[in-house]
Amino acid sequence: MDKIVIEGGRRLNGVVEVSGSKNAALPVMAAAILTDEPVTIRRLPDLTDVRTMANILNDLGMETTWSDDGHTLTLRTTNDALCTAPYERVSEMRASICVLGPLLAKRHKATVALPGGCKIGERPVDLHLLGLRALGANIIDILHGNIEGTADRLKGAEIFLAGPNGPTVLGTANVMCAAALAEGRTIIKEAACEPEIQDLALLLNKMGAKITGIGTKQLIIDGVERLHGADHELIPDRIEAGTYMAAAAITGGSVELRNMRCSDLDAVIDHMQRMNIRITKLPGGCRVEPDGELAPLNFATAPYPGFPTDMQAQLMALLTVARGTSIITEKVYPKRFMHVAELNRLGAKIHTQGSIAIVEGVESLSGAKVIASDLRASASLVIAGLIAKGHTEVKEVHHIDRGYERIEEKLRALGARIRREHDPEETGPAR
Ligand code: EPZ
Repeated sequence: MDKIVIEGGRRLNGVVEVSGSKNAALPVMAAAILTDEPVTIRRLPDLTDVRTMANILNDLGMETTWSDDGHTLTLRTTNDALCTAPYERVSEMRASICVLGPLLAKRHKATVALPGGCKIGERPVDLHLLGLRALGANIIDILHGNIEGTADRLKGAEIFLAGPNGPTVLGTANVMCAAALAEGRTIIKEAACEPEIQDLALLLNKMGAKITGIGTKQLIIDGVERLHGADHELIPDRIEAGTYMAAAAITGGSVELRNMRCSDLDAVIDHMQRMNIRITKLPGGCRVEPDGELAPLNFATAPYPGFPTDMQAQLMALLTVARGTSIITEKVYPKRFMHVAELNRLGAKIHTQGSIAIVEGVESLSGAKVIASDLRASASLVIAGLIAKGHTEVKEVHHIDRGYERIEEKLRALGARIRREHDPEETGPAR
């Protein structure tokens, strides 16, 4: 297994291209189950999670044809009798759950292993099941570790889909996909409005679905009898973009991001501006530059359009060296603080109390060996490593490969001293 080695202290400068969105890619790929015709997806990021989803779809009888550059994939159903997503796959990636709705709607049968908890919290799937049951699916949770479902043609329904921490992103994806082929009208209330859900809805409409209210909390889906093939380019990865913005800002550098949509990052841009980071919007991108000393900030994560939980760790890394004390409240995944202990190993001063983290800004960080615990935690450690004095090693980087395409190459092109090395100290399984 690999580790990332960083010699901190270099200002980032230059241009970075943002890849296609991982969290849009996964449900969009699963939606190809809904038709017998080919679905072509462009601008796929080259990531382990994308490859895992392609493997799951192969297991489910889908043919996968990749372009030479690995960024375009055509999916086509070749065997619709295969309806099982086994534990080995689902345990690699919880987002595998997004095949459940498409399978029930199109193939009327699904066996999907129940995803367990993970480093960012418990991650239940009760809302996915509630929504699919409301559409008429018969679902047993849980038999031998699997969610087992059968369905005749699903029937439209009114569904309130929020839980204690707000709407569910992949739950909305599952129910929206299933409702697209249901008989009659479905209204999803308190639907997730994330850009990735909007992108999925746009793909479904290209396939012949009738979805309105896209980007709002109320999705109206008039079911159709069948969906056809489509050609779809994914939106840019807003979290990857936000991560490079934070990386640029912590080094006091000047970086231009290209192929991104500022409108998907309103909350992140607003919060960074309050920290004295100058962000200039450009056509198809933005420039990030310092605008004085980094100021502290109090903020809470929230579903879109609020501040994304997937940027909490990266902003925390930035706040470790702000001038003053910041308070972060994690409202989407209240236990998502695995990065705190590792940032503290780099010299940060962070205390947590339940879902709140108090970050006292320090003068400087110092390099150390740290262990990545999940995708965004690893990104925060890389960001901190960019300014930590001396040598930082981020171990278990397979987490980062799930969501950041060639991160060390992109940062090196901006001037960072960063490299990937084989880690002889690591002997565990790949994930
Ligand atoms: C998506 O996960 C993302 N994953 C996550 O990105 C992201 O952190 C999360 O949305 C929140 O924005 C993908 O898109 C592949 P949720 P998802 O259902 O859909 C609770 C990353 O780093 N909940 O919106 O699984 C849940 O516990 C990742 O790229 C229920 O109570 O998240 C949480 O508190 C990790 N019951 C809240 O809802 C349910 O049935 C939001 O979770 C489902 C969720």
